Amino acid sequence: MLTTNEWDLLSQRLPAWLEDSRREAAHGSPASYIPELAHAPADALGITIAAADGRELAFGDSGLPFTLQSISKVFTLLLALMDQGEEGVFRKVGMEPTGDDFNSMLKLELVEPGIPFNPLINAGAIAISSLIRGRTPAEKSERILAFFRELTGDLNLGYNEQVRASEAATAHRNRSLAYFLKDNRVLEEEVEEVLDVYFRHCSIEGTCRHIARLALVLALNGKDPDTGRELVPRRYVQIAKSFMISCGMYNASGEFAIKVGLPAKSGVAGGILALVPGRYGIGVVGPALNDKGNSVAGVHLLQTMSAACDWSIF
Ligand code: DON
Repeated sequence: MLTTNEWDLLSQRLPAWLEDSRREAAHGSPASYIPELAHAPADALGITIAAADGRELAFGDSGLPFTLQSISKVFTLLLALMDQGEEGVFRKVGMEPTGDDFNSMLKLELVEPGIPFNPLINAGAIAISSLIRGRTPAEKSERILAFFRELTGDLNLGYNEQVRASEAATAHRNRSLAYFLKDNRVLEEEVEEVLDVYFRHCSIEGTCRHIARLALVLALNGKDPDTGRELVPRRYVQIAKSFMISCGMYNASGEFAIKVGLPAKSGVAGGILALVPGRYGIGVVGPALNDKGNSVAGVHLLQTMSAACDWSIF
């Protein structure tokens, strides 16, 4: 249940907490391996909290548009589960964290049968892109975008074309991962076609409000926050949230579970999606990243909030 005191506490304290966390941004910097992302304002920090009862709070740079990047992987996983079922998905990706960087190739070669360890690392998300139903890459991408539009309730949601092109032109590491997967027969389609689907969903652009709304759908186990209609089967949301706990913040997921204790997913544009089960969806943006690829100020802010409100699920 939503306690009025907690909402008041958040309304009153968040502006100061946000400015405290903003200072942490100096310890990181925006991603530059996708050149277009390097232009993001390094000290930006914004947050939107969407409550199950329709209330909303927004502070700081919550209106800053940014690309979803890896946050999108949670939702392509859900769509792939809806398209292929659990069996179809888990033939191609595993269920375990790697402890390695999000774009690492190491375990693909080391561990038989050479399928990605989980759907949230780059190799796993590329495999998931190939599982989205559609006769052509364009049709798969249209279905993914339509799914995001349905979940956010924003029919104008679209791509940042500069970021997409910038990633497509420089994705040497992802290309090598994809060719490796093709060689291991994880990918059956053409590598460039699968990558096109992957780059596109990574470049879907939104604000903290969109992320908070997506998170709220997960917090409500797949139900539309306005109508209560089932948008995603509960079982698939359960799978996605389990991955968010074990792999959502990459090889900092263990630390995040201890310090924040909420299902979450980060992206290299600085976004973090987090949720308080049954109660809140949270969208954060802070483009300066730490060496694990997570928003420095964003993680700091979530840690402050979770401690103050005793949100850890553990
Ligand atoms: O494939 C990539 O490298 C990016 N499109 C997404 C990576 C990402 O967001 C990792 N997150 N922290």
